[in-house]
Amino acid sequence: MESILQTLHSWAQEAFAACGYDKSLAVVSPSDRADLCQFQCNGAFAGAKLYHKAPLAIAGEVAAELGKNPAFSSVQAMKPGFINMTLNDDYLLRCVNAIAKDEHLGVTQANPPATIVIDYGGPNVAKPLHIGHLRSAIIGESLKRLARATGNRVIGDVHLGDWGLQIGLVIAELEERNPDWDCFSPAFAQGGPVPTLDVDLLSEVYPLASKKSKTDPAFMEKAHRITYEMQNGRPGYVALWKEILRASVADLKQNYSKLGVDFDLWYGESDAEPYIPKLMEILGQKELLRESDGALVVDVAREDDKAPMPPVIVKKSDNSNIYATTDLATILQRQEEFAPNEIWYVVDKRQGLHFEQVFRCAHKAGLVPDDTKLSFLGFGTMNGPDGKPYKTRDGGVMRLSDLLETVRSAAARQIESSEFVAEEDKAQTAERIGIAAVKFGDLINHRSKDYIFDLDKFLSFEGKTGVYLLYTVTRVNSILKRAGVDPEKEVELKTVSSQSDRDLLLNILMTDNAFAHAMEEKAPNYICENAYQLAAAFSRFYNDHHILNEPDPVRKGSWIDLIVLTRRLLLKQLDILGIDAVDNM
Ligand code: ARG
Repeated sequence: MESILQTLHSWAQEAFAACGYDKSLAVVSPSDRADLCQFQCNGAFAGAKLYHKAPLAIAGEVAAELGKNPAFSSVQAMKPGFINMTLNDDYLLRCVNAIAKDEHLGVTQANPPATIVIDYGGPNVAKPLHIGHLRSAIIGESLKRLARATGNRVIGDVHLGDWGLQIGLVIAELEERNPDWDCFSPAFAQGGPVPTLDVDLLSEVYPLASKKSKTDPAFMEKAHRITYEMQNGRPGYVALWKEILRASVADLKQNYSKLGVDFDLWYGESDAEPYIPKLMEILGQKELLRESDGALVVDVAREDDKAPMPPVIVKKSDNSNIYATTDLATILQRQEEFAPNEIWYVVDKRQGLHFEQVFRCAHKAGLVPDDTKLSFLGFGTMNGPDGKPYKTRDGGVMRLSDLLETVRSAAARQIESSEFVAEEDKAQTAERIGIAAVKFGDLINHRSKDYIFDLDKFLSFEGKTGVYLLYTVTRVNSILKRAGVDPEKEVELKTVSSQSDRDLLLNILMTDNAFAHAMEEKAPNYICENAYQLAAAFSRFYNDHHILNEPDPVRKGSWIDLIVLTRRLLLKQLDILGIDAVDNM
């Protein structure tokens, strides 16, 4: 389906061309003066420079041409050269009814669809999930849903950090505590017995081992040796590693599922290991490897670089692999398995340089075709009220489960005495309100920006919050229920009878534009904004009309259908944000 802006754009192009002006001037946008018109085109200003003519003269000619189209109720040239457009109600109704009939509710589908791998989550095995992992999960999940909703084939990969020094540290500490475990004996053979571990133990061991490694060089060396031996297949370490992975992943799955985040692939850095020899071979063949202080590096700087671009290290002097090695090998693996058109990395923006190096190296070495887009979608930090990265009271890194628990209990307090929520639904409702608050509070900010975690604000029923959206959906549900209407009914709007009614139609029409914008920038905040605008337009409409008491059956039926459609769109937007609605609150 063509979006309203696309349609207006092509009409405006035709009008500019018919008046003898360049088509490219015809850019149409929603009006920034809603009191004057619905849409505007400012092309006459650029035209004035091109054709040495007054902008108002050009705008006048184009407006007269465009005004011949019966879809408009008015097209006006306004000083000093704007073209203001307003559609007539019949045309608005026709467009909105077409959206209601469309299986994608008017959201333009990619043609052809792209295959996109999204790398998000990025938790590290054996370390508990902390709030640093929250944004990647929330933003990545939303981008995955957005890319799917716009018709693409999308594969979400958690890309576990499961192969690095942190594993060596944990194993080293376990070995010091339990030297008698079979898996530590050099004679341990594959298939031998390994103790069952649980996450509580791991989350106690990791921070301790990490701390110890900083003051105890012998311990650090041991952890390095273990990491190296594990990566080179020593059976006892590999067996223990698999057990650490099992325990950790079970816990991660539980945490992510609480957040409403799920992955198609639970691959980790270790899954790229088999691709490292091939990677080194390609880099060697293309003569990209250079020795530097015993390490092997690839130069990725370009002449036009404004900032220094260090070479990327692919083998350290002790022959071990590092972060960049795994990321490059993972690209090879993804190319082989999915031949994606794009790979998106939803990672803390502080890792931007690493990814720039990796992408340049991948293209230079031809690991992916030239037109494969590798995109780093960096995100900012979630800060506390003091504007510094969010911490626990004692200044530590906060575990994700603790944060979610804080939010859940605040949401539970909020609905504790609510007469609208049945006692047996309170637990799930509180859970969902909490998640909605956290996710919307995050996603409403452009992903690249830092933001302040402000629970009171996030839980407010007013303003741009997830709670306001959930609340709006419950109001929509309640009115449909009172009207005895099946929310799945077919929609056919018949009339427009007020300004707030018309505004709601216009908001519905702008949904596709929000999806397109969000995809273009790979930023879900445009969906948040659009969902909020739709909810606010609904609230105005709802306040202005006595829907259930309306005596005119055509008008009442049309309003009901408008509400049914609004509900569908709100739910669709919430779904993109990864937010589940609640029945009552
Ligand atoms: N595990 C990494 C970290 O905690 C994030 C992984 C991001 N993805 C990647 N392909 N490197 O920083």
